[in-house]
Amino acid sequence: MSNDKAKQSQPEQKHKTIEQAEAEGKYIRKIRSFVKREGRLTKAQARAIETLWDTMGLTHSGGMIDAATLFANNNPITLEIGFGMGKSLVAMAKAAPERNFIGIEVHRPGVGACLGEAEAEGVSNLKVYEHDAIEILADCIPAGTIDTVQLFFPDPWHKAKHHKRRIVKPEFIESIRRVLAIGGVFHMATDWENYAECMVDDMKDAPGFKNLSATNDYVPRPDSRPLTKFENRGQNLGHGVWDIQHAKKD
Ligand SMILES: C[S@@+](CC[C@H](N)C(=O)[O-])C[C@H]1O[C@@H](n2cnc3c(N)ncnc32)[C@H](O)[C@@H]1O
Repeated sequence: MSNDKAKQSQPEQKHKTIEQAEAEGKYIRKIRSFVKREGRLTKAQARAIETLWDTMGLTHSGGMIDAATLFANNNPITLEIGFGMGKSLVAMAKAAPERNFIGIEVHRPGVGACLGEAEAEGVSNLKVYEHDAIEILADCIPAGTIDTVQLFFPDPWHKAKHHKRRIVKPEFIESIRRVLAIGGVFHMATDWENYAECMVDDMKDAPGFKNLSATNDYVPRPDSRPLTKFENRGQNLGHGVWDIQHAKKD
């Protein structure tokens, strides 16, 4: 691969300031669900991005995806938002070769770690974005094409003054409803009780979903969800875990 091609196929780097982007007429959301931590890439993560991005990477500038072409099959798709270091996403993809997986994460070392783990585990049914999930949902995922959306241990932004940064809010839920197929499932998990309660409340108010809980709040932890890094950390701190699943209605 020539150097030029390698450069083109790397995930986009954003050097623009918000002011420059706005001057070009681009709308920029100022309240984000993450703070971009540049964090140093390990050699292994950098190598994984360099060598695997061409086959596994997806970019926001690529626009709407055509999943059947991308994966060369029509298997159902699981979309995971905020996969962290990707270990549990890769484990799920390996355990379900009859499905396709798309991961979205803004943390570059996490993306590198996920690609390296996928290679080590021989996983080929996984594609990855390094980008804000809000923009990927709006600009890259066609309506009604996703079987399952996973949001595991989103940043809880536990101080009340930071709750506006929480990713789960009515507009986000509507963007999930749009991409899900009828009957598709939106699965959230958190170890932060107040966030879990807000998730259930927001979902109650959202049109187009049916809670899959017999008690209209939480479901038992599904066996299909491997222990994630943040769940493990929460468990060590004595936190509880709440799983919330809703299906998209007709
Ligand atoms: C608390 S961590 C949980 C990671 C992983 N799901 C786990 O359970 O170990 C939340 C992750 O979501 C990512 N994130 C937050 N907002 C995001 C967004 N808008 N788009 C993509 N990733 C996001 C963060 O970078 C972080 O890695």
